[in-house]
Amino acid sequence: MAKRLFIKTYGCQMNVYDSGRMADLLAPLGYRLADAADDADMVILNTCHIREKAAEKVYSELGRLKPLKAARARRGGEMVIAVAGCVAQAEGAEIMRRAPVVDMVFGPQSYHRLPEMVARATRAVAKTGAGPGRGILDIDFPAEAKFDHLPAPTATGVSAFLTVQEGCDKFCTFCVVPYTRGAEYSRPADAVIAEARRLVEGGAREVMLLGQNVNAYHGSLAEGGEIGLGALVRRLAEIPGLARIRYTTSHPADVDEELIAAHRDVPQLMPFLHLPVQSGSDRVLAAMNRRHDADAYRRLIERLRAARPDMAFSSDFIVGFPGESDADFAATLRLVREIGFAQAFSFKYSPRPGTPAAALEGQIADEVKSERLSELQALLAAQQRAFNAACVGRSLPVLFERAGRHAGQLVGRSPYLQAVHAAAEADAIGTIRAVRITGIASNSLSGALDGASAAASAS
Ligand code: 5AD
Ligand code: SF4
Repeated sequence: MAKRLFIKTYGCQMNVYDSGRMADLLAPLGYRLADAADDADMVILNTCHIREKAAEKVYSELGRLKPLKAARARRGGEMVIAVAGCVAQAEGAEIMRRAPVVDMVFGPQSYHRLPEMVARATRAVAKTGAGPGRGILDIDFPAEAKFDHLPAPTATGVSAFLTVQEGCDKFCTFCVVPYTRGAEYSRPADAVIAEARRLVEGGAREVMLLGQNVNAYHGSLAEGGEIGLGALVRRLAEIPGLARIRYTTSHPADVDEELIAAHRDVPQLMPFLHLPVQSGSDRVLAAMNRRHDADAYRRLIERLRAARPDMAFSSDFIVGFPGESDADFAATLRLVREIGFAQAFSFKYSPRPGTPAAALEGQIADEVKSERLSELQALLAAQQRAFNAACVGRSLPVLFERAGRHAGQLVGRSPYLQAVHAAAEADAIGTIRAVRITGIASNSLSGALDGASAAASAS
């Protein structure tokens, strides 16, 4: 009988990709994805450690799982509970100590060993007749490349994630990623291209290339040498049927000429870029070890806009970094006003254990962080509304991804990653149609198929 597997994913798109691969790894062992933890044979929490709040959620979820596991044991079954991802990497032994309900802890770099871990856990149950509770901890950074041990991805939607790069060598002083995901690693270009082809064969029309620092990509080629992200994009654009290419997350210091040229020349590369700046103050950027100043960021945006005039930008911001003065924060607001973002994420600085900034003097009071965050978010929200409002009346090519909440309605994405709702037949899923934008909601656009140009732009 099929076993039920429930995976709960927190945090970034890399975790979403990893969760998909874990499901692929466990499928040959008879595990099928379930949509709730009740009565699951195995529950995996794929966790995020980026901010304190994200990490705390794991412990409260484990508290909720405890009675479910006990109930299943009373019925003579068992529920294996695993904690994966970056909290596992950072706090492995601590999780085992604090939450005995957990059977397995493994990090983002060792999940390819999951079938072996499950086999070990199952053998132990057979031997002792007891529930799991054996405590398997695997938070190595193994020498073997994880990607060589993963099966080909199975589940694809219209838009598919594809991890091309992992880890980070930037060591921004606030960030845990270099510690939890490890050193920067780029997958060989041929492996990436082969995976993209398989995704397209499986129905994907768009790939989102993923990496913690995706534009640091430098993948080897079978014929020798290495290519960067711009060249990779050009090669991917040759795959028939691949209509759209995106990538995230980029570091401003790693945007090179080749990537800017790809934005100019490759129509499949979408004119939307998530380019975190974190702060508009040179003093804060230096203390963050961001490796660029505010003007370098402004110039970069100008160069990208010169290459692709309709390019829209999104960013990440941290307010209340240690030592951030009112003047520093004002510099952030100034930069936001000058650039004009289509969308953005902003956070209060959260001290992460083991990172250099956590030990800095001049930590900012929470009330000050909250005030700055609401001021920044009000400005960013107004910019997002203005960007969306400017789309009303325009005809945008929309790649339809799935059915909407209302009957007869589909949801897709504009080139600028806005969700767009429109009445359309289900067979439009996976096609690009021209949609005349008629309205905006808080986070999405609505419109109607643009009869005249729909046929011409469908692909
Ligand atoms: N505190 C607050 N925000 C953080 N981020 C990363 N580390 C921290 C931290 N310690 C934010 C950054 C990054 C995004 C993914 O999360 O803005 O770009
Ligand atoms: Fe973290 Fe991004 Fe800085 Fe790397 S570049 S340390 S992932 S914020």
